[in-house]
Amino acid sequence: MSAPFKVIFATRNEHKLREVRAIFTQTPILPVSMAEAGIDLDVVEDGATFHDNAVKKCVAIAAAADRPVMSDDSGLEIDFLDKGPGVYSARFLGESTPYDIKNAEILKILRDVPWQQRTARYVCVIAFARPGEKPVTTRGTLEGFIAWEARGSGGFGYDPVFFLPEYNRTVAEIPPEAKNRISHRAVALSLMKEKLLEINV
Ligand code: IMP
Repeated sequence: MSAPFKVIFATRNEHKLREVRAIFTQTPILPVSMAEAGIDLDVVEDGATFHDNAVKKCVAIAAAADRPVMSDDSGLEIDFLDKGPGVYSARFLGESTPYDIKNAEILKILRDVPWQQRTARYVCVIAFARPGEKPVTTRGTLEGFIAWEARGSGGFGYDPVFFLPEYNRTVAEIPPEAKNRISHRAVALSLMKEKLLEINV
């Protein structure tokens, strides 16, 4: 068997890394963490789009590590808020504000907004780059609605207020296996897996 092709996945989040590894099992590609690769670099996510941030992160880390890197950026777009909080999803009301407060604020802002105008989506962009090369990117989305009230305790972040009509439940109410099958991250990562296998990394 040939040696695995190690790709640094630019995250410090172990949970995310496990999710990524699960998608790449049965491929020659082995995502490794920044810590495993001995890289300690903070890249400021100041781009105007998920694409800009994901690309900026993987290009900077690939250059610093002199190794191939995959990165991601994701967030929640609410159509009524002109696709906000978008790239500011983590920073909405302040980075350290608990999500029950952020979610309550979203419900308050949308209190009188009718169902048809409560459309929203999770977006994830994955980028891959070798040092000095042009990055390739993929994008995944999960479409839904902002619920009338927060429900469920699974998942994280905005999941209790993100409602999936196909399940008649919020993302925080569906089993984690179901979320990992349909999520914006799963879709973007699966597309990246196909792309990397295609270009024979
Ligand atoms: P990051 O891409 O890990 O930096 O995530 C950006 C932010 O988007 C998170 O801090 C959450 O606010 C939001 N977000 C991204 N994915 C999800 C998700 O699957 N559920 C809930 N919130 C999410």
